[in-house]
Amino acid sequence: MSPAFRVLERADLTSRNSFGIRATARRLVDVADADAMPEALAVLDDGPPLVLGGGSNLLFVGDAGDVLTVSDARRAVLSDDGERVVVRAAAGADWHGFVLWTLAQDLGGLENLALIPGTVGAAPIQNIGAYGVEVGEHVIAVDAFDRHTRDVVRLDTAACRFGYRDSVFKQHPDRWIVTGVEFALHRFAEPTLDYAGLRDVLAARGITAPRPIDVAEAVIDIRRSKLPDPAVIGNAGSFFKNPIVPAAQAAALVAAHAGIPVFAVDDGLRKLSAAWLIDRCGWKGHRDGDAGVAPGHALVLVNHGHAQGAELLALARRIAASVQMRFGVALEPEPRIVGATW
Ligand code: EPU
Repeated sequence: MSPAFRVLERADLTSRNSFGIRATARRLVDVADADAMPEALAVLDDGPPLVLGGGSNLLFVGDAGDVLTVSDARRAVLSDDGERVVVRAAAGADWHGFVLWTLAQDLGGLENLALIPGTVGAAPIQNIGAYGVEVGEHVIAVDAFDRHTRDVVRLDTAACRFGYRDSVFKQHPDRWIVTGVEFALHRFAEPTLDYAGLRDVLAARGITAPRPIDVAEAVIDIRRSKLPDPAVIGNAGSFFKNPIVPAAQAAALVAAHAGIPVFAVDDGLRKLSAAWLIDRCGWKGHRDGDAGVAPGHALVLVNHGHAQGAELLALARRIAASVQMRFGVALEPEPRIVGATW
């Protein structure tokens, strides 16, 4: 039987972060059986470890101290009433592999989130979202080890406090370690096709009543055409969140800048497109040594080979400063920055 957890000293993290930044963990504890979390954590007595999922949403600026990974990847159907199906995956399951597993059973819900890099355990933390869907819409509970009570607890959807690229877990990064996530999926759900490009791809294929797998295939094609593959060139997806500003500020920007995209959030707030703002400042395809901006998408920073975290961070700060100067809008990074503050 394989051990419930194992400890590695001086672990290389280069292949464990999608930017491909060279970094080392002083100690890495990998938990293969989430039930062994209390025991595994007892080994790490010097404060909270960095919990690492797929490493697809972080930037290492310097080395890490203690790092914890969960490799428990079990998934199961918990209940099925013929229409609503509750499934659970442990934190270490690969996100895209899990989505494909739900689609193979013709379950709808997660199809718009196909091909997002990372693990199931990381998905609720930044409430991953794409093409009109956020994962929080389908999560019914998150199981997590609570470092305050030293117990595994279950947080329902309300307790997770999901927001745009946000959750209670992101607000309190050192409190919970996600061990598993439960989702309510549906056999006959209406697909979400609000993202214009998605409808276009399906229409071009002559698909009028798409099944979840058809939507996922369209999403996969759109992602591949727009976003660089981290297996080919290091990146962490969107480096900045789309800024949310007061409606009056958005209206003033629309008056001053023709074509600026603005999306409704609620009555008083509007979401702007960080990619558009960055693009207009001329950064697309820019390169400072090995730190660059993707040629195909202004929101994605890339490592052309041997960029260091500090170089990518310096580039990100220059990009944000230029957007602030030209549009008066503050950008905030989306990935977690380890070893530096924004
Ligand atoms: N645009 C530009 N220049 C560019 C790229 C885009 O002007 O280089 C404009 C487009 O014309 C469009 C707008 O920006 O009007 C939005 O672009 P896109 O549809 O690509 O979406 P996004 O807002 O840039 C967000 C998410 C992505 C997600 C897509 C699709 C954030 C921070 N990013 O990007 O998520 O895949 O929508 O739903 O919310 C990620 O979080 O890592 C990520 C890739």
